Amino acid sequence: MILCVGASGQLARSLVEVDGKRVRALGRPELDLTDDRSIQNALETVQPDAVINAAAFTAVDDAEANEDAAFALNRDGPEQLARLCARHDVPLIHVSTDFVFDGKKGAPYSETDRAAPLNVYGRSKLAGEEAVLDAHPRAMVVRTAWVHSPFGTNFTKLMAGLLQTREEIGVVVDQVGSPTYAPDLAAALLKLADGMQNHQCTENGIYHLAGDGGATRHEWVSVIADTLAERGLKTARIREASAREFPAPAQRPNDTRLNCMKIQQDCGLALPAWQEGVRACVLRLLSGMEGSA
Ligand SMILES: NC(=O)c1ccc[n+]([C@@H]2O[C@H](COP(=O)([O-])OP(=O)(O)OC[C@H]3O[C@@H](n4cnc5c(N)ncnc54)[C@H](OP(=O)(O)O)[C@@H]3O)[C@@H](O)[C@H]2O)c1
Repeated sequence: MILCVGASGQLARSLVEVDGKRVRALGRPELDLTDDRSIQNALETVQPDAVINAAAFTAVDDAEANEDAAFALNRDGPEQLARLCARHDVPLIHVSTDFVFDGKKGAPYSETDRAAPLNVYGRSKLAGEEAVLDAHPRAMVVRTAWVHSPFGTNFTKLMAGLLQTREEIGVVVDQVGSPTYAPDLAAALLKLADGMQNHQCTENGIYHLAGDGGATRHEWVSVIADTLAERGLKTARIREASAREFPAPAQRPNDTRLNCMKIQQDCGLALPAWQEGVRACVLRLLSGMEGSA
């Protein structure tokens, strides 16, 4: 059994959907990452073969004014989770983010590139990575990026809605990343968990795992629009905009494409091209199965 920390999030729900027989997802109040005793109880009750931490303080802008809460959930909770997993000798996959980088490299980031976060969320996640790797020899950090899915709130869902209700939308051309479809990520993480149990993958290290290739937000929205149009739906005009038009409390890195060669070489894992994930997500939304969840 694989214990997923976090139940209502995009990745947690995707993990359950990919293999509900094998994944037990627990979230608050039953499993609260800021409550050591609830972590201990969950490990004793579930007796997992591996743990995936999909819980985080992910509200990037809110984190700016809530630094203590962001660090409590993104650093202190994962550190305690890692300590307890070490005590039970259970491998741990801790999910992290492309926002540990400042986006100034001008090329996809490798695991060995220097992390230099620009905002509180990124600093708290980087601190979490370091704490987890220090606390547990069988902990692996997997950095992903620009996660979207049929679940919760995310860029694909938001833009698919706006494209169908507005005449024109402005979408930024000066932010580049690696859009990652949560169900693809979930399937790969489950294989990685198997690899860790069998000691097939390098443990206690960092891997990048995201949708293959890089996209601007504008290119991402163009694929959403093309998929809607294929289905005969009318969509808004897409205007090229600059990130400066959308000021937000947290500064965001401009280019955080992730180089995912290492996990492919070490563990044989690669996610499909980002366009395929976006298309799959839009088609799923159109099928109405999870559109308003
Ligand atoms: N979203 C992105 O674009 C993105 C990009 C890069 C990396 N990531 C990383 O990918 C991972 C998954 O992201 P996601 O998009 O699936 O996140 P999400 O949808 O925002 O879900 C996060 C989940 O964390 C859980 N949580 C919050 N406080 C908790 C607590 N005290 N104890 C236990 N669980 C708690 C919540 O589940 P409950 O309410 O059930 O407790 C929440 O649903 C995170 O590590 C995130 O940093 C995400």
